Amino acid sequence: MDKFIGYTCSLCGHEYAPNEITYTCPKDGGNLDVVLDYEALRKKYQPEDLTSRANPSIWRYLPLLPVSAPAGDATPLHLVGGTPVFALPRLAEKLGLKHLWLKDESRNPTASFKDRASAVVVTRARELGAEVVVTASTGNAGAALAGMAAAVGQKAVIFAPKSAPQAKVAQLLVFGAKVILVDGTYDEAFDLTIKASEEFGWYCRNTGYNPFTAEGKKTAAFEIWEFMYREAAAATRKATGELTIPSNKPRLTIFVSVGDGNIISGLHKGFKDLQTLGWIPHMPRLIGVQAQGSAAIANAFHAKTETITPVQSKTIADSISVDLPRDGVRAVRAASETGGTYVYVSDDEILNAIAELGTVGVFAEPAAATAYAGLVAAKAQGWLDPETPILVLNTGSGLKDVRAAMQAVQPAPIIEPTLEAVRKLL
Ligand SMILES: Cc1ncc(COP(=O)(O)O)c(C=O)c1O
Repeated sequence: MDKFIGYTCSLCGHEYAPNEITYTCPKDGGNLDVVLDYEALRKKYQPEDLTSRANPSIWRYLPLLPVSAPAGDATPLHLVGGTPVFALPRLAEKLGLKHLWLKDESRNPTASFKDRASAVVVTRARELGAEVVVTASTGNAGAALAGMAAAVGQKAVIFAPKSAPQAKVAQLLVFGAKVILVDGTYDEAFDLTIKASEEFGWYCRNTGYNPFTAEGKKTAAFEIWEFMYREAAAATRKATGELTIPSNKPRLTIFVSVGDGNIISGLHKGFKDLQTLGWIPHMPRLIGVQAQGSAAIANAFHAKTETITPVQSKTIADSISVDLPRDGVRAVRAASETGGTYVYVSDDEILNAIAELGTVGVFAEPAAATAYAGLVAAKAQGWLDPETPILVLNTGSGLKDVRAAMQAVQPAPIIEPTLEAVRKLL
């Protein structure tokens, strides 16, 4: 079955055949939405056909992905996804919430959410016979591409700002990618990457440019949907014996940090796919969180416009430090079409969120802790109903940026190696 039947431009709605186009709409530069043959999928599959699969990785959703199964077996590329969701009762109590869960994306093979996109893009690159895959990255997308490429023996080139945290640069180098550090911003690296890909015939993974990144990212929505399914089942099984998500309960509300806007639009696409298939009774609410110093999408959302005005970004959360978000329009819609919103947080709030998450055993990098900082800010603003079930995404590991983590905590004391010194300290 040919499930991938084309693209639709998110701006002008123009439709393209799968082989007619590779990146964005030639008419207006709009991001392309991948279109699947939903009619045929609906006839062929029931949710249980996917949810009953033993494979916990993103590849359990292969029927809903616009690629064929990756060749080979059990490499890191085959093991992306299936990340845990767990409850945070102590933080829930502290915030006055009834249900709070965290989905921990730092458990992916290269320790960030970006593996989802890179696994699908590398698989697409293999199908296209691309010799080299290239991306611009603040660090995580590059590490993910380098890691996934290394896993299957694909050549990768990564352009990153020279200011990228050392751990991320180390990942790129260890995975054997050709690493080019740009003396400029992420946005400059982004534009240079597109020029280089055109010049040298490389396949470009750039976030918010290659339509397959959102397809990879939507797999997190599928996992959240399965989680909702299981939670609802646990709650209703006793009463009704049915496996359904009750549509009259407060909707799950998901907090996600936003830079280019591709994670939030990927999640939205995943839930839209499920809705088109009739597999989900209602859309979860998507709440985007941006750093105050890098908030072009939040600004557009609150100005009720889809015109994204670039900012001069400055935030400790390097992964979401973006002047001109490349998936801004769809990111605005991800909130507006799901009854969600955008929340701003300061760098201090992000550092506090790193420390708070640490108290329950979660180590988040600044961009990842931004989502939790957004939840804290939203609760303080008073518009979040305590009954609302909340899920926060931790999109990347704190080990990615240890320098920032150290700013979130008090330095450890150094003492003489004597019991006396310990006693004095205590
Ligand atoms: C850890 C982390 N969180 C959040 C984001 C934001 O994703 P997006 O740029 O798609 O909005 C990124 C992007 O690099 C990231 O690395």
